[in-house]
Amino acid sequence: MENNNTRRNFLKQTAILSTGTIIGSSLFNSVLAAENNLKTENQVLEPENFDFQENYSLPKLPYSYDALEPHIDKATMEIHHSKHHQAYVTNLNKAIETLDKNLVEHSKSLENIFEKMSKFPEAIRNNGGGHYNHSLFWSLMKPNGGGTPKGKLGDAIMSTFGSFDEFKKQFSDASMKRFGSGWAWLVVQDGKLVIGSTANQDNPLMRLRGKGLKGKPVLALDVWEHAYYLKNQNRRADYIASFWNVVNWEAAEALFNS
Ligand SMILES: [Fe+2]
Repeated sequence: MENNNTRRNFLKQTAILSTGTIIGSSLFNSVLAAENNLKTENQVLEPENFDFQENYSLPKLPYSYDALEPHIDKATMEIHHSKHHQAYVTNLNKAIETLDKNLVEHSKSLENIFEKMSKFPEAIRNNGGGHYNHSLFWSLMKPNGGGTPKGKLGDAIMSTFGSFDEFKKQFSDASMKRFGSGWAWLVVQDGKLVIGSTANQDNPLMRLRGKGLKGKPVLALDVWEHAYYLKNQNRRADYIASFWNVVNWEAAEALFNS
């Protein structure tokens, strides 16, 4: 019972995004969202049910802008969250206002949007993806993070990639090789861990034509220049190396287990 309560409380604390923005699988669907707060270190934002009320909104960070120093700097975090992420939210809401009536109902959760992605205009794809991807990204980092994953995720990484170092190498390679702007991902695809990347603000949940990466996100890394240019300029490899010091593996583990 105690374990169940602990897990429920953890999920309650971790499933939240904000008004209009909880991401969740069926497990998380049963978790009520506390408004607009990401209060603990071990928070996870699982993609799917952004529970729309009136407008999508910017979630608060679960830590201060300088909390990831010296690995990710305060100025980058502040601009990334308060300007870039806010712009995706603002433009998503604007784009929804221009939708045909038959699509408005489908726009009330990001899960619905991603499942019917090809029916929506480009602005919904870019800004809905931007809102979801960044929300997930914030939850997958924490102060004093890093180290190695434990539990079932740690076991799965070991059995899939042979070693944690090999996993890091492959994920870092995917992050480096994404041309231009995009995201690197660790996903569960057909029951297996898979590393890949997506362009722009696309993500593996979007039902799109073509061979793009599909699956349920476990780990995400923003490789847009806006995520690292202030501190690292053009040195994406340095930023990727820094990321490993702030990964919130407990959050990734919760996504994996859900
Ligand atoms: Fe970003």
